[in-house]
Amino acid sequence: MAILVPQCLARLMLILLLIGVSNAQLSSNFYSSSCPNLLSIIRTAVNSAVSSDSRMGASLLRLHFHDCFVAGCDASVLLDDTANFTGEKTAGPNNNSLRGFEVIDNIKTQVEAACPGVVSCADMLT
Ligand SMILES: *[C@@H]1O[C@H](CO)[C@@H](O)[C@H](O)[C@H]1NC(C)=O
Ligand SMILES: *[C@@H]1O[C@H](CO)[C@@H](O)[C@H](O)[C@H]1NC(C)=O
Repeated sequence: MAILVPQCLARLMLILLLIGVSNAQLSSNFYSSSCPNLLSIIRTAVNSAVSSDSRMGASLLRLHFHDCFVAGCDASVLLDDTANFTGEKTAGPNNNSLRGFEVIDNIKTQVEAACPGVVSCADMLT
């Protein structure tokens, strides 16, 4: 009995996890009511960045890839180092190599002005 209970609990948790996964659908219109201008803000900013620097499109894709490379696509690559925190931004494969942070900062500023506190940095980067 003492062994069965944890096994049942583990099964129940697995079932709940699978239900949760099957309900967690990605959606391209997730912000359509909470931040209706999101995609047009991002599109305009990215088009503008690419038209003044044609490599920027590839650089933004690479920035996203390197974000996802360490522990998931969580925008952690955007974090600056502090006195007591060393992040991904200055890690070997990224330091002086990743570009486009200013494009993301610009988009974040515009998105926060349009819909404060609604869109995550991870979603904006994606
Ligand atoms: C890290 O340093 C900042 C100030 O630079 C301070 O606010 C923060 O509490 C520190 N965090 C830890 C975990 O020591
Ligand atoms: C990142 O690059 C800067 C400038 O070249 C350098 O000063 C710094 O030590 C590097 N950081 C790491 C963690 O390698």
